[in-house]
Amino acid sequence: MSTKLSQSEYDNIDQIFAQADAEVLKIEAPGRINLIGEHIDYNGGNVLPAAIDKCIYYSFKKNGSDKTSNVLSKNFSEGFTFDISVPEKPGDGWLSYLSGVLSEIEKRVPGKVTGFDCALESKLPIGSGISSSAALLCGFAKGLNELFELGIDDIEIVKLCQNAERIFSGANVGVMDQFAVVKGKKDHFILLDCDTLEYKTIPAAMKSNVLLLLNTNVSHNLADSAYNERRAQCESALEIIQSKYPQVKTLVEATEEMVEEFKEELGEDRVKRATHVIQEQKRVEATVEALKNNDFELVGDLLNQSHDGLQNLYEVSCPELDFLAAYARKDDRVLGARMMGGGFGGCTINLIDEKNVDSFVADAAKAYKEACNLELTPIPVKTNNGVQKI
Ligand code: GLA
Repeated sequence: MSTKLSQSEYDNIDQIFAQADAEVLKIEAPGRINLIGEHIDYNGGNVLPAAIDKCIYYSFKKNGSDKTSNVLSKNFSEGFTFDISVPEKPGDGWLSYLSGVLSEIEKRVPGKVTGFDCALESKLPIGSGISSSAALLCGFAKGLNELFELGIDDIEIVKLCQNAERIFSGANVGVMDQFAVVKGKKDHFILLDCDTLEYKTIPAAMKSNVLLLLNTNVSHNLADSAYNERRAQCESALEIIQSKYPQVKTLVEATEEMVEEFKEELGEDRVKRATHVIQEQKRVEATVEALKNNDFELVGDLLNQSHDGLQNLYEVSCPELDFLAAYARKDDRVLGARMMGGGFGGCTINLIDEKNVDSFVADAAKAYKEACNLELTPIPVKTNNGVQKI
């Protein structure tokens, strides 16, 4: 059970933002992009995300109490005081996410976290598909890990935050977001094998090209149930394929021939889902090669193909994302574009020469307003390190 902080309590905790003494720990937790490899992390696939230069900022301080802690969010202008041994209910706002992290930490290192104060401010737009929730959880977990010297390693931080997000958001998410947020490296993408969690960093220098996000400013609340439904469809498609090919351990290892062979039993939806997954995995490999060869035209084509898969086969797009992807595709200034993240809203990711950004954004915003009657928010992004002390 938590109680709202009074204004004076809020102001008091808020001060730790301004404090620069050794007792205050400052952390920044980035959001993430994903260049390509969408909806395949939970199918054992390879993905190519990166942490970005838009972050949530945290200040932490021990407060000397045994269990009473205070947290505030500048964005919501609200704060709470609560007992760290009493978990919040899932779905009860931002505090319940943080409480989920505390429960996961408690399972791993019981009794080591004591009372603390924490103030946070997010510069990440919520619901735009750049993983503000993974940043929230991972920044909080890494902060507590550092403050109380808990000794939890990065991979365990990734897993515990993934678990907290699953429980508290209701979406059975994969590991990509938390991994990128924790292990990101400036000027690099992370090529992550989501089956083994082995990863390589891939240089993100793309000559004069940059990555531009265009936020549709749409977020659909159907996203969680549709996400879980897609995941279940993939799991059952895999089971059907495994009935004859037990050596196929994850859906990305299946082939389009296998899908064709089982098309009656799979039915139309599962055929489409599996086909996207198999093709998207190949596109990730092709993108890594194309980046190595500085072939940005090809990277752009692969982004376009990925959007087609997500729109027509995986069916996780929405009219606004489709409009922006199609608009970018017929514009010569853009090398390629696709919806990014879970879908049903959020951003497209566009590969574009830096010199064309301003003119393209102006035209796209006008067209988007006319077609969808919504504002377009451009978010230029650069790659960044994962959660770090500042
Ligand atoms: C969300 C999930 C990720 C991943 C993407 C889709 O961001 O949190 O695990 O599945 O959707 O690629």
